[in-house]
Amino acid sequence: MARSKVVLAYSGGLDTSVAIPWLREEKGLDVVTVTVDVGQPVDLEAVRAKALASGASTAYVADAREEFAQEFLRPALCANALYEGVYPLSTALARPLIARRLVDVARREGAGAVAHGCTGKGNDQVRFELSTQSLAPDLEVVAPAREWSMNRDEEIAFAGRHGIPVDATKRSPYSTDENLWGRSVECGILEDPAVEPPEEVYAWTRSPLEAPEEPARLTLGFEEGVPVSLDGTAVPFHELIGTLNRLAGEHGVGRIDHLESRVVGIKSREVYECPAATVLLEAHRALEALVLPRDLLAFKRTVEQRYGELVYDGLWFGPLRSSLEAFVRATQERLTGEVAMKLSKGRATVAGRRSAASLYRAGLATYSEGDRFRREMAEGFIYVWGLPSRTWASVARPSARPVALPPAGRP
Ligand code: ARG
Repeated sequence: MARSKVVLAYSGGLDTSVAIPWLREEKGLDVVTVTVDVGQPVDLEAVRAKALASGASTAYVADAREEFAQEFLRPALCANALYEGVYPLSTALARPLIARRLVDVARREGAGAVAHGCTGKGNDQVRFELSTQSLAPDLEVVAPAREWSMNRDEEIAFAGRHGIPVDATKRSPYSTDENLWGRSVECGILEDPAVEPPEEVYAWTRSPLEAPEEPARLTLGFEEGVPVSLDGTAVPFHELIGTLNRLAGEHGVGRIDHLESRVVGIKSREVYECPAATVLLEAHRALEALVLPRDLLAFKRTVEQRYGELVYDGLWFGPLRSSLEAFVRATQERLTGEVAMKLSKGRATVAGRRSAASLYRAGLATYSEGDRFRREMAEGFIYVWGLPSRTWASVARPSARPVALPPAGRP
């Protein structure tokens, strides 16, 4: 009888490689691997070969960069999504896409389970499993690295016994994750939140101190909230992100040191490098400030915060996300225009913005020639707007001295 199958999310790293023989031996399962390119520097063919060499019966690889950009990063950018005000959610956004691929392959292969290499302490196990439960409640989830009790040296020994190549030169004290939207680093010296991250943790960004003296200037063209061009040339979104990661990284833009509140209740110290996300979020917010009215901007900020939390919490495939996204999409209809950005010494700043849907009126804003604002109306406006404040102030607090009532006729 054929053994039942499990579909494993496979990165090519030590944990997921060791998971292949472990799933075969401990669980008696036939292992099919899935490796998804979401923009991490990965040689898909080498990863496929390693999966097969480690004992996988079939190894799927897929380039999902465009899908990641269009279906996950685009709504996240339109929602200005940040967790705890600083983290652009790079890792969190890729997990539901990978889970969806696992489910697709599980269906195609007739597998009864999926597996991931996450430990029991992080957010990613939550994201993989909640996504899988939402898409395929009947599938089982196996988490080898949560079950086995091997430490890193034991894993390396286990890998050796199973003929899995371990690249000793790549051994680093840090745990990293990368995709188009950013790179995350944890462990090692970073576990002491009092210590400044050493320069060696960074791979995508130059130190702002060593960035070029001459700033880089670029103009981003947006259509309905999504960047579509760079300096006047149309560029597919996923390619634009790659270009900006290199350019902004050169200028030291996008380093984030986050004392983060994990969904499993643990505080952790994470370092991120998100050059493109930093530039694009800054530019996108600048265009919104020009095009959206005050009440909509303020209300949208509350939606954005909730959206960021739910993405972090692994609830991508839930109805709150799709409902909030419907609101966000409606806010982006007029978000067409251009934003000029300046990258210099670790900072991405808005240099200028323009849009046909701009609410800015020079005749209203100016303090010089051509002022069309009817300032005589301001006095009446302030009288009415201030009425509640004056009424409130006129009522004496029981403990306070009595307040003189205003003259009759001026309540
Ligand atoms: N803490 C981040 C998150 O939950 C990233 C974790 C990524 N994993 C890593 N090994 N750095 O989204």
